[in-house]
Amino acid sequence: MERFRVKDIALASKGRLQIEWASKHMPVLAQIKKRFSRERPLKNLALGACLHVTKETGALVETFLVGGAKVALCGSNPLSTQDDVAAALAKKGVSVFAWRVQTTKEYYWCVERTLDFEPSITLDDGADLVSTLHGKRKKALPKIKGGTEETTTGVLRLRAMEKAGALRYPIVAVNDAYTKYLFDNRYGTGQSTLDGILRATNILLAGKNFVVCGYGWCGRGIAMRAQGMGANIIVTETNPTRALEAAMNGFRVMPIAEAARIGDILVTATGDTNVIRKEHIQKMKDGTILANSGHFNVEINIKHIEELAKSKRNIRPNLDEYALSDGRKLYLLAEGRLVNLAAAEGHPSEVMDMSFANQALCVEHLAKNEKMAAKVYAVPKEIDETVAMLKLNAMGVYIDELTREQKRYLSTWEMGTT
Ligand SMILES: NC(=O)c1ccc[n+]([C@@H]2O[C@H](COP(=O)([O-])OP(=O)(O)OC[C@H]3O[C@@H](n4cnc5c(N)ncnc54)[C@H](O)[C@@H]3O)[C@@H](O)[C@H]2O)c1
Repeated sequence: MERFRVKDIALASKGRLQIEWASKHMPVLAQIKKRFSRERPLKNLALGACLHVTKETGALVETFLVGGAKVALCGSNPLSTQDDVAAALAKKGVSVFAWRVQTTKEYYWCVERTLDFEPSITLDDGADLVSTLHGKRKKALPKIKGGTEETTTGVLRLRAMEKAGALRYPIVAVNDAYTKYLFDNRYGTGQSTLDGILRATNILLAGKNFVVCGYGWCGRGIAMRAQGMGANIIVTETNPTRALEAAMNGFRVMPIAEAARIGDILVTATGDTNVIRKEHIQKMKDGTILANSGHFNVEINIKHIEELAKSKRNIRPNLDEYALSDGRKLYLLAEGRLVNLAAAEGHPSEVMDMSFANQALCVEHLAKNEKMAAKVYAVPKEIDETVAMLKLNAMGVYIDELTREQKRYLSTWEMGTT
């Protein structure tokens, strides 16, 4: 059995420095790592992970290793693997199957090689391990104790499986912890999406019409950060409450059919499909830039762009120009894959510190709890609050504690107007 496949193992020393740099900015994970090395709570466990192979994922994997686990890892997107990090982990004994720029066939080959290692706990970012296990690799299901899911789209897929009665093992929805989505999806995606757009284009954001499709946790962060750079934000939504929130935050809200006409830059972050399609592409201005930060590359209909285009050129890394038959040119970033990971490095380590502290503690929770049903579980409140408190303390921020009198006051109904 092949132990690993990466782009170039000689990149390992470069990757080692990246993992060290990330770890330095992940103090919560560092504390967990210290405890794991003492207690070895994952002794003899095999973990299979399908996560973006970034320097922060490197820090998480090393936390599992000191906790006693064996780890097999593949990337969760064909364009997001950091090849130096993959090499460093392979050198450390991790079974890594990941390299940047993969075909769909290669991507699933890596998923299957990770499952060959017969993990008893899975970690997913988008639910591809779980769905492969429930499809082609059903025989392996009885050995699985449980799994975790990192992102909104994965949690949606897993809830759909649960509802259809198809889910065969317990999953902890890491994405839904407060200390995950409030920070990772919002500040992480907000900052890194702009980072990806800027690295790919180096355009000026000030004064541009910047359309954000989807005002969820990611969309809020992207809109907030682009506004900070001087862009005029336009939000498109399908949910009236979210649209109202965007309007009251001072943003223009309109249907995509209108926004497509006036946007200079359009970014999708909906988790939905076909958000930008032919009828919108037909109305766009010459020079419009399109990017996606949602999990899958289905939010912008690339086939429709290709149908309208008469030629395509690669201008620079992660920037493709489509010349349409009517003379207009449109620019697609990172092939419509999540722009923050494909054109930049993903979220800053400081937010991944919280997301991956949740991952580490949830894997420990699954390892310790034998009797969980085949359901999608919320992250236990104690884990979420522990991560928040450790992060605050690491930032040198301390908070008040309720007095005994306040606790009593807050839990009684008798006391009213005085
Ligand atoms: N790029 C990253 O690093 C990263 C990080 C976290 C999450 N994600 C992914 O980003 C996507 C969004 O995640 P989220 O946590 O913000 O989800 P969310 O559920 O909080 O928000 C999605 C929003 O999109 C809206 N929406 C759905 N269809 C729409 C449409 N056709 N037009 C306009 N709006 C529409 C929904 O009403 C909702 O408000 C998911 O695919 C998630 O997995 C990416």
